[in-house]
Amino acid sequence: MLPALPRLFPKVALVRDFDRSLFQTTFTTPALRVAANQCGRFLKEMSGMLLSAPRIKPIMPVPDSVDQVSEEAKKSLRMLLLKPGVRREDLPAGLLTEEEGSSACAWIEDFQLCLDYNYWTVDQIFDSALPDGLPNVSGFETIGHIAHLNLRDPHLPYREFIGQVILDKNCHNISTVVNKIDTIEHQFRFFKMEVLAGKDDLNAVVRENGCTFKFDFSRVYWNSKLHREHERLQLCFDRGDTVIDVMAGVGPFAVPAAAHRHVNLVLANDLNPSSHEFLVENIRRNNVGKYVTPYNLDGREMIRRGLAEARALKARRLADTGSVVASRPAVRLTQSTPFITRFGLDHKAPVVPSPRVVDHFVMNLPAIAIEFLDAFVGLYRAEYPELAEQLDQDPDMGSPATAAALAAIADQMPMIHVHCFEFIHDGEVAAAKAVAGRVGTVLGASMTLAPSSTLNLVVADRNWFLQEAPAGAAASATPPAPRGNAAKMPDHLAVPGSPGTDLPRPAVGTVHVHNVRSVAPNKDMYCASFVLPPAVALRQPAGPEVDAAAPVAGKRPHPDAESGEPASSKKHQADVVTKPE
Ligand SMILES: C[S@@+](CC[C@H](N)C(=O)[O-])C[C@H]1O[C@@H](n2cnc3c(N)ncnc32)[C@H](O)[C@@H]1O
Repeated sequence: MLPALPRLFPKVALVRDFDRSLFQTTFTTPALRVAANQCGRFLKEMSGMLLSAPRIKPIMPVPDSVDQVSEEAKKSLRMLLLKPGVRREDLPAGLLTEEEGSSACAWIEDFQLCLDYNYWTVDQIFDSALPDGLPNVSGFETIGHIAHLNLRDPHLPYREFIGQVILDKNCHNISTVVNKIDTIEHQFRFFKMEVLAGKDDLNAVVRENGCTFKFDFSRVYWNSKLHREHERLQLCFDRGDTVIDVMAGVGPFAVPAAAHRHVNLVLANDLNPSSHEFLVENIRRNNVGKYVTPYNLDGREMIRRGLAEARALKARRLADTGSVVASRPAVRLTQSTPFITRFGLDHKAPVVPSPRVVDHFVMNLPAIAIEFLDAFVGLYRAEYPELAEQLDQDPDMGSPATAAALAAIADQMPMIHVHCFEFIHDGEVAAAKAVAGRVGTVLGASMTLAPSSTLNLVVADRNWFLQEAPAGAAASATPPAPRGNAAKMPDHLAVPGSPGTDLPRPAVGTVHVHNVRSVAPNKDMYCASFVLPPAVALRQPAGPEVDAAAPVAGKRPHPDAESGEPASSKKHQADVVTKPE
């Protein structure tokens, strides 16, 4: 049909400011020049004869290059492009006779259609200009105005050309193209990047879940592919809840949870001083300083201090406002209200503060977060000193009284949502069981896979649900019915185990494993959600016990990497950070 773009390698592939006119090709096809007001009649009578090619309209203005007609006459004429091979005698009899009386209308045997750089797609340009056998350039991730590429080694000699083409073809929303240049990830999960094309500006502003996030993409972690996961977990949160985001980044869980899920209290922590800086900025931008408190601590320390901090914040709010529930402006639900606000919350009901000190811990640092679970061992000993002592005497819970006393406090335990990677060589159920097993190993408790788990099951895996999963598994895997004026929850977001979605928390000792996304051919990212087992929460920790009762003073100054001096972020602290006790 249409000719392909000729081979241009190696003319342009190695340069950034390549000559775009090299991509200009001319295509010859028959055409009819007709009066604009007659187009309808022609189209009716010539069905099946018009040129049908991607991104080419078969009816077009008469091009400037045609000089047989005056510029004035061109305005009332149109070109009808026909399929190559259509001959004049193929036209319906009598169609042209009266029209051809006018000099402006004509049958054109070999109309020259010019296809230039703007016409060709990114893939066509790469096929033409890059060497044979090069792997396909995979897509890119968009972070505000930035296109983020992850080029493979064979692409590198052509990276500037590749970047420039991507910029040219996406200039409506992209003004910077970067490539990840380091396979070794930083402790704080950001990457070294090289600007391939466009302006050297990595300060992005991104909108997600009804909030705006500003950050320097070269200094902090951001992954737009996680937006559904951010949304999914927030649907677990209820209005009276207290949530601790242990590895909060620049706030994609914490900020919308407060702004749109109306969570009562959010403690958001990240060890990276730059993430902390932008977290503070995003709290301010989204006007949630009343509900979200930022911290700059190591994750383990945040967990260990979390209960005391949450208590101190609630006490301070009670003293300041007379209520632990933060007041909020009334919500008017409209079409533009973010989904997470519309789903499952009864906005007219009074907010009942949760009786738990902390309702949810979120830990999204998939490479190592599971290791941080050891910080939960003994975390609630100070809350239940007598029961902790009883457990010390009866560590195997041989006495029914110990077991019953622990079961009685299960409802006071928080849910923990910890992200991790797992290989899927042996199928998803095996991977999910491995995740549950790893959680149990760090906690020193037996943890099994909850039948409610949301996995991408292959056929063989279904057997697990049919044979091993307890009765009722199928029912609990069904998405909940929407409540009241709530929007229907899409199946991909259905998450058992949350008040917000009307599903019970996983039974103590079971782990609800959710498949978040595939990250490599045989490796997926998962989120393991479970209730902290009371026996773990009260057990004597192996290492030295931390004084979990002493709250930290909001943001802990972080030593500057180079000078060893505390980072100067007092300006931010004044805005949103809790005052020291
Ligand atoms: C994968 S990112 C997730 C960030 C954010 N929750 C999100 O979903 O975009 C992990 C975060 O953990 C932070 N981090 C790394 N080590 C940490 C530690 N020891 N304690 C607390 N945060 C840490 C990194 O700075 C990074 O922002």
